[in-house]
Amino acid sequence: MIGRILITIVFLQFVSSQTFQDDNILNGQLTVVVEDNLGDSSSNAEAGSLDEERWTERTVINIHSVKLGQSQISHTRQWNSELLKTLKKLALKNDFYKLRLHQKNGREPRYVQTFTDACLLYTGGLSETLTVMVDGSPSVAGVPEQTVVSASLAVPTARFCDLADVNGEALRNGHNTTLQLRTPSAATPPDTATFIQKLESMNKEKTENKDNRSFFAKYWMYIVPIVVILVISNGGQEGGGR
Ligand SMILES: *[C@@H]1O[C@H](CO)[C@@H](O)[C@H](O)[C@H]1NC(C)=O
Repeated sequence: MIGRILITIVFLQFVSSQTFQDDNILNGQLTVVVEDNLGDSSSNAEAGSLDEERWTERTVINIHSVKLGQSQISHTRQWNSELLKTLKKLALKNDFYKLRLHQKNGREPRYVQTFTDACLLYTGGLSETLTVMVDGSPSVAGVPEQTVVSASLAVPTARFCDLADVNGEALRNGHNTTLQLRTPSAATPPDTATFIQKLESMNKEKTENKDNRSFFAKYWMYIVPIVVILVISNGGQEGGGR
């Protein structure tokens, strides 16, 4: 029993130290710059270079904790009627609205790109859900580092493209961004609290239920012969005494 408790304690400490490490990796500050491209991708698909020049910084995301989903979004570009017109042009052409993200860490930016249907974004009144996947991995120096590995852009309020039925006010207000932070499933910290609870209740059940319930059932083969022997020997002694 004591051995089992000791093993459990050692195991729990191991689990909590593991979680602590993951916390360190996924809790640091992270600044992500979001740029968009309202360029027409069909007309200069071959040139490529023109499109590249059209990227403009749009939003800055300050991530405080990936694990707790704590972040702050600020749209650094003033949304205006000109931009709205350009987006509508894209929507009419059935083109894409393109987005790219990079981390602000003083190094050469490594871009992660995503896109959504321009017409869906327009129909949905610019209410978008941006999902950013952040992975924590030890860098060369051994210091844990967070990396934006991928991103996706969705417009949950628009199910199909309908330029006739749009929310003009929302479109004038500009981007309404809901941010979702994700980690790849392999790097997701284990749900330790639930696991410990389960372990504890399992142990409790074992000690409370199983042992009490099955004591006689388990040892009847020893108890019964002892009782029989006692009864017989008692009987024998009593018989001998008379
Ligand atoms: C912003 O987006 C959210 C989620 O899509 C939506 O519930 C909310 O109504 C939107 N707000 C405005 C002002 O459009």
